[in-house]
Amino acid sequence: MLKLKELSDPCQGIPKGERCDSCSESPYWQGQQRPTPESSTAAGEAPEPCHIAPVTLEEELATAKKLYVQSRSAMLEMFSHARMGRAITVDKADTLVDDIRQSIARHPNAFISLVRLKNANEYTYMHCVAVCALMIAVAQQLELSPELVHQAGLAGLLHDVGKLAVSATLLNKPGKLTADEFAIIRQHPELGAQLLRTSVPVCELVLDVCLHHHEKVDGSGYPDQLAGEQISLFARIAAVCDVYDAVTSDRPYNEAWDPAIALQKMSEWKHHFDTVVFQAFVKSVGIYPVGSLVRLGSGLIGVVTEQVPGLLLAPKVKVFFSTHLNAYITPTIINISEHPQTEKIVERVLAKQYGFINTQALWHGDCAKL
Ligand SMILES: [Fe+2]
Ligand SMILES: [Fe+2]
Repeated sequence: MLKLKELSDPCQGIPKGERCDSCSESPYWQGQQRPTPESSTAAGEAPEPCHIAPVTLEEELATAKKLYVQSRSAMLEMFSHARMGRAITVDKADTLVDDIRQSIARHPNAFISLVRLKNANEYTYMHCVAVCALMIAVAQQLELSPELVHQAGLAGLLHDVGKLAVSATLLNKPGKLTADEFAIIRQHPELGAQLLRTSVPVCELVLDVCLHHHEKVDGSGYPDQLAGEQISLFARIAAVCDVYDAVTSDRPYNEAWDPAIALQKMSEWKHHFDTVVFQAFVKSVGIYPVGSLVRLGSGLIGVVTEQVPGLLLAPKVKVFFSTHLNAYITPTIINISEHPQTEKIVERVLAKQYGFINTQALWHGDCAKL
């Protein structure tokens, strides 16, 4: 499987002649050293993005909530245009991707954690926004160029556009699907790629992600049963982001899994995901992503509120329950990285084990206005 150091062509699986112009012209595609910011500018290629100053989680959450609302309107408009057979407005999608990228640059946890809390009835289109944000984070973690980070975001935003051709009743059906119903849903990658090919001039990378985000590294995915590096890097990134957002979101037919438990389970699905991509994903969201419920060695239970850069096992945790007292306590934030001798996470906790409700509100405050 792909080793990060050997990454010379992030678009494996896409025939060179089919790549978008900017991609196929780039020396990076041809396996050469990625240019430094100075040489990129000198060569007339896109410059590195301006430095974006980091802000606190609280500050970015306020902006991220507005961005969430904007994303929802933009996606509703884009999806309804496509449903009526009108062209998807890629300009708007580009602007949205850029706004999301900037939010992640200001604070890596805010928007990604917030968009996971989407309502079940807005799952289909807000899932696309979530996958967009996660793909941007992973592409940045893999140190891809700004152009590729943008294309990754756009690919995430459009990856499930084929679901527009599937009835909402079927998409949101509670309970088990019949074999026929499942076969219809499995057509959405091909329907999406067809829609993109005929309606908008998008990069081949975006088309490829739309078509191949349900492929699995062991060749058991669909629609083409591609295996290993036959699947492009971006489709492999999409596969991880897609499944993570799906299982950690409330859907009409399933309750959300705790994010840390989801990652633990996904780490065992070696047949499904590229190991290096999965590791990059974990580095970007944390081993205990924001919103995870954990028990500390001291017997306190809390919800992860924020990652500490470079310390995957020591996030900030807002504790609210004592297992020793079997009682709620005044919520307090513990930065585990500042107490390595006395505090550490000893296990992931399921809310229903203790009957906790609405633990998510502990890290983001009131989300009722989303
Ligand atoms: Fe999909
Ligand atoms: Fe999806």
